[in-house]
Amino acid sequence: MNETPSVGIHDMSFATTHYVLDLDELARHHNVNPAKYHVGLGQDAMSVPAPDEDIVTMAATAAAPILQRHGTDHLRTVLIATETGIDQAKAAALYLHPLLGLPSTTRVVELKQACYAGTAAVQMAAGLIARDPNQQVLVIASDIAHYQLDTPAEATQGAGAVALLVSADPAIARLDPVCGLYSADVMDFWRPNYRTTPIVDGHYSITSYLAAAAQAWRDYSGRGGRDLSEFASFCYHQPFTTMAFKAHHHLMCSAGITPDPTAIHAALRYTTDYNRVIGNSYTASLYLALTSLLDHAGDLTDAPIGLLSYGSGAVAEFFSVTVVPGYREHLRTTATSQAISSRKPIDYDDYRALHDTHLPTDGGRHVLDEHTTGGFRLAGVTNHIRVYETC
Ligand code: HMG
Repeated sequence: MNETPSVGIHDMSFATTHYVLDLDELARHHNVNPAKYHVGLGQDAMSVPAPDEDIVTMAATAAAPILQRHGTDHLRTVLIATETGIDQAKAAALYLHPLLGLPSTTRVVELKQACYAGTAAVQMAAGLIARDPNQQVLVIASDIAHYQLDTPAEATQGAGAVALLVSADPAIARLDPVCGLYSADVMDFWRPNYRTTPIVDGHYSITSYLAAAAQAWRDYSGRGGRDLSEFASFCYHQPFTTMAFKAHHHLMCSAGITPDPTAIHAALRYTTDYNRVIGNSYTASLYLALTSLLDHAGDLTDAPIGLLSYGSGAVAEFFSVTVVPGYREHLRTTATSQAISSRKPIDYDDYRALHDTHLPTDGGRHVLDEHTTGGFRLAGVTNHIRVYETC
């Protein structure tokens, strides 16, 4: 492998919503065997946003501890990756300026390509830092997976944000230089501007994911990447956690290796703990898988980790990070488990009511009731302007 400047993840932090729905509750009301969700999809619960939460409040909650720890002296770029945009023109990260005290001397952009955009942001951050290693880039992947009620996709909803500080000489994991890419025009999942929920061809989306993963892996191998056997673990985009196992099985077949269920379990088992109870967090899902791995596995110092990013439509990228010595001192394991365990359980009726809640669009002054205790909230909307506050 070529020598590259050491650039990677210096800090990472997670946030999710105020409410949680147990999937047993959904199964009961949909007359579905709960094993379909727990075993078939590998999902136990889903995060549900309160009316005063959105991608900005989750992004602010995820990013605040990073800025508290590292300050903003070296911060020159803030990239927000999302497919739950709140505005067609203005980048969601601009709302973070007053909430987080971001410096005005930053470039701020929003990136979109379904669940893949977080990885595009990380790679762009690496390029900026390679040019000037003094700079740091804050990447925030923040999303709410919101499907139409009474559809098979409903059990795969969720919400979350992962903030990553990308820098030279990173404290957690170094980005390795080789990447494998694949893109093609595929209609497996999309959301036209006039819709609040995506149109999805569920089973086609699974085969599209698998095909794109294999193609990205092929490109990665052709560019001199590592052998599959060299990786200590693999993090996959997890729309539901059994998808990661399907994808790894497929990758092994593509690489000419006979899949061994025990080896697949060993390679992935620590990567699914968080996504199982959060649900699909779209752009954040892959980085939540990495967070779960680092928080739950034994010592991974110097271990190469393979990552497969997939965004419907479709773009896939296979890349890798190498975990650096001392990484454990920089993890936020307690804060992450608190964010998950402090969610307030809701019943099915409350979930349906929240699902159907939409912000008024009449341009009037609307004040929202207080629900969230997450640190930041959407206080209301006035003259079509979202008003945020610290709580
Ligand atoms: P479905 O068709 O209702 O489910 O919806 P199913 O019948 O295929 O069952 C699911 C699994 O549960 C199957 O396992 C069943 O056998 C099993 P498999 O055969 O696939 O291994 N099962 C059971 N297991 C144990 N006990 C039981 C039982 N019953 C059934 N009693 C589907 C599933 C994923 C299609 C649906 O939830 C959906 O449409 N989800 C949304 C789309 C999605 O998540 N696609 C994933 C790939 S695309 C992607 O990842 C991109 C995305 O994140 C968007 C973006 O990029 O922005 C979605």
